[in-house]
Amino acid sequence: MITFDESTQVFHLHNQQISYLMSVEEGNLLAHLYFGKAVSHYAGERAYPRRDRGFSGNLPDSSERDYSKDTLLQEWSGNNTGDYRVPAVIIRDENGARQTDFRYQSYRIVAGKPDLENLPHSYVVDDSEAQTLIITLTDTALNCDLALSYTIFDNWAVIARDAKLINRGSHVLHIEKIASMQIDFPKQDFQVISLPGAHARERQVERQEVGHGVTQFESRRGTSSHHMNPFIALVHPDTTEFAGEAFGVQLVYSGNHQETLERDYIDQTRVLAGINEYDFDWKLSPKDVFQTPEALLVYSDQGLNGMSNTYHHLLRERVARGKYQYAKRPIVINNWEATFFDFDSSKIQEILNNAAPLGIEMFVLDDGWFGHRDDDNSSLGDWFEHAHKLQGGLKEVSRQIHDKNMRFGLWFEPEMISTDSDLYRAHPDYALQVPGRGKTLSRNQLVLDFSRKEVVDNIFHQMVKILDNVKVDYIKWDMNRHLTEVYSAALPADQQGEVSHRYTLGVYDLAERLIERYPDILFEGCSGGGGRFDAGMLYYFPQSWASDNTDAVARLKIQTGTSLAYPMSSMTAHVSVSPNQQTGRATSFEMRGDVAMSGVFGYELDLAKLTDAEKEIVKKQVAFYKEHRQLIQYGDFIRIKSAFKGNDFAWEFVSKDKSEALLFRFKLMSLAQPEFTLTKMAGLDPKIVYEDEKGHSYGGDELMSIGFYDVPLEAADWTSKVDYFAAKERA
Ligand code: DGJ
Repeated sequence: MITFDESTQVFHLHNQQISYLMSVEEGNLLAHLYFGKAVSHYAGERAYPRRDRGFSGNLPDSSERDYSKDTLLQEWSGNNTGDYRVPAVIIRDENGARQTDFRYQSYRIVAGKPDLENLPHSYVVDDSEAQTLIITLTDTALNCDLALSYTIFDNWAVIARDAKLINRGSHVLHIEKIASMQIDFPKQDFQVISLPGAHARERQVERQEVGHGVTQFESRRGTSSHHMNPFIALVHPDTTEFAGEAFGVQLVYSGNHQETLERDYIDQTRVLAGINEYDFDWKLSPKDVFQTPEALLVYSDQGLNGMSNTYHHLLRERVARGKYQYAKRPIVINNWEATFFDFDSSKIQEILNNAAPLGIEMFVLDDGWFGHRDDDNSSLGDWFEHAHKLQGGLKEVSRQIHDKNMRFGLWFEPEMISTDSDLYRAHPDYALQVPGRGKTLSRNQLVLDFSRKEVVDNIFHQMVKILDNVKVDYIKWDMNRHLTEVYSAALPADQQGEVSHRYTLGVYDLAERLIERYPDILFEGCSGGGGRFDAGMLYYFPQSWASDNTDAVARLKIQTGTSLAYPMSSMTAHVSVSPNQQTGRATSFEMRGDVAMSGVFGYELDLAKLTDAEKEIVKKQVAFYKEHRQLIQYGDFIRIKSAFKGNDFAWEFVSKDKSEALLFRFKLMSLAQPEFTLTKMAGLDPKIVYEDEKGHSYGGDELMSIGFYDVPLEAADWTSKVDYFAAKERA
């Protein structure tokens, strides 16, 4: 899959679907040539078209005026040496110089994919399924090596990239910035799709032109954040869900991130992604190594659905791990929106008594079971049982749940500390803070300094005490504020720029220790809803709460945006009360069920308050979900219609062998003079005859080419319809 032509100095990574081409150019600069659809042969057409340009410098000590870093398409740009575009790396030398100039040195090809130490990453199960090219570049003045790693998988349109800096000299260096990947694309019209949002409005799809200058997407909040997901896609103006090219860039990282595009003065586009340089300054002592997070690049020539499909498989099959990677995820009843902090044993008993007969499989006890937490003002950091809330304690709750043949889930918020907590009284320095300054509260809580091992250890031991004693089957790991006062009492002045990345490493460390010790526990990530929904967390937790907004209509957009980069098996979605507590919107039980059933399904309401008719609906929804759970959680998800401007959403789940499909359709507003809209299915086998639940037969080609009218959906706002098709025979 990887070749190097000594005579032309061209590297070619290729499989049946993609090619990635680079060359070693004059001056040993590593040039980018091509990333896209597979080619079997490269004759040199992308060699740098030299030209003498005004204000474009040449290589040091060279008189060749037509060769300039200013316009050369590169794999890795330096700083302060004539490439005026945004650099991939900035290193400060002891003498204060901030010049970096990495030149090609050597390469090696290894079978499989080396692990990234202490960081989440994609992996191989067998070395034969991927190859990795490791190219070493050197900055001789800094005496520093840069190992650029490129993994190509045998059957996916994916290149996984990361970079590693090694200080081989005797100077202390400071990394002010280091990206995980760079690609310089030749001139073409690009648009960029990003996923901005907010708390309770995560991952809204935004598409914009890439104009001249720098376009940047980033988080400075200490987590990947609700506000900007660490994912972008470059597309052309004519790229649709089903056609055209899409280049996805996704970071496997959960901290401050930065995705940068720069369209230069001759319309070439540089793309960079990695840890955010904001507030970043890493001391690299002699012999030290710095490992960047991984970036996953995906190419599709079948539109956005093609790109999403590759990410769904990759993240599910080669990023997620553990017992639940492919397991059926249980249907949950969570008490949060039903009780908030106000629960006791009898309330829980009541929820259980209602849930078990409906077929619900897991009860999750949310926030409020620990310390003396009766509201959000106290007890974070005190992971011992609340003395008065639960008769017989968690053990008894767990026993009652298991007696009902259900499983038990428990909420934690490991990274936080309340000032009203035993932990804070004993260790006020455990909270992130800047000496001599005030501490910013958010939700009346502070953030623990997870860059310190002893802090992570403390929380680990507290959690172990609970988990070794109570039978817990699931943990919801929450995180309800962003970082401020990013400063650590444990680090010297010249390492304070490391705190936020070290914090993220601390989160990964705790997560890894817990999943290792409790392999039977299913972990769900959460950060005030979907505030840390990224591939980094997915490496530890196979699913994540997608949003605190459980309104079915708002969720259509949130789940659609999320599906661009993440599989449906990673997205938890619950039916809650109507009118919705976040938006006040009233929607039918059916609509709420159909939206939530499109992910990892559950309920988050007071079951005791449901009417008998509503309980019947729940029973049916639970039974329906169980019947189709495998297809929804592990089938191929296809976006058919996404109503960012129009009135309809439609999506589909198709099994791998195309023998069954589920079509979900949603209509937003009811119109007095409705258009006759058509839905055409996708991803079916044209030669299979499918039968719907009413016994009607259709050819696969018929469903995909002719489709059917979206009538009659009811004459009401926010309606939905689900149709199931199973293969009957081959035409
Ligand atoms: C935010 C989460 O997203 C909610 O589901 C709930 O767990 C609360 N935190 C509890 O404080």
